[in-house]
Amino acid sequence: MKYAIISGSSRHESQSIKIAKYIETEIKASKNETYLFSLADNPLPLWDEGLFGPSDKWKAVWTPVSEQFKSADAFVFVVPEWHGAVPSAVRNVLQIATHNEFGHKPALIVAVSAAVGGAYPISELRMAGYKNNRLCYIPEQMIIRNVGKTFNGPTMESDDDAYLRTRMTYSLKVLDQYAKALKPIRESGVIDHKTYPNGM
Ligand SMILES: Cc1cc2nc3c(=O)[nH]c(=O)nc-3n(C[C@H](O)[C@H](O)[C@H](O)COP(=O)(O)O)c2cc1C
Repeated sequence: MKYAIISGSSRHESQSIKIAKYIETEIKASKNETYLFSLADNPLPLWDEGLFGPSDKWKAVWTPVSEQFKSADAFVFVVPEWHGAVPSAVRNVLQIATHNEFGHKPALIVAVSAAVGGAYPISELRMAGYKNNRLCYIPEQMIIRNVGKTFNGPTMESDDDAYLRTRMTYSLKVLDQYAKALKPIRESGVIDHKTYPNGM
């Protein structure tokens, strides 16, 4: 299985990339392939209509990412809570990517907060952004609160840290099962994005 991990913070040095790298290491340890795409420093321009036609700009910035996403079986979205919402860069990816990259593939949401937030990005992602690209958020999810005090090196800093690490391992195992379970759906011949390119 191949997992694409999206680190959703536009900040150059973020807690989200710390968590994304932890997840990458854990997935690699179980002999799966990974692709880590960081939104640090905004590697993608804002969506524009160039995406629909031949565009050197989009070919340079999006095609390499798109190819990696297309070959992934599952996604992990590591998303910080910013102003009670997901960062614009995350929403931009959800509008740039189509069913070609995300369609009928499972995704685990990992929300990140420096304090006791983290619920807003989850409800926002579950509410909007998957209609046309057909990304499938799994019902398991992670909320990493007080992120500065967790996932720092090999030593557990607290009971919360220990719990979150164990819970992360469990969530990734659940995602793995969804990745296996959804593959036959994509290969079933039932999916018809030619007739129904957009969701209702
Ligand atoms: C622009 C901005 C807005 C933020 N708003 C919130 C917020 O609404 N709720 C919250 O819990 N943390 C908020 N934070 C703090 C983040 O939780 C904190 O930066 C955390 O480390 C996750 O973001 P990061 O991955 O960019 O580091 C905000 C941070 C930034 C940069």
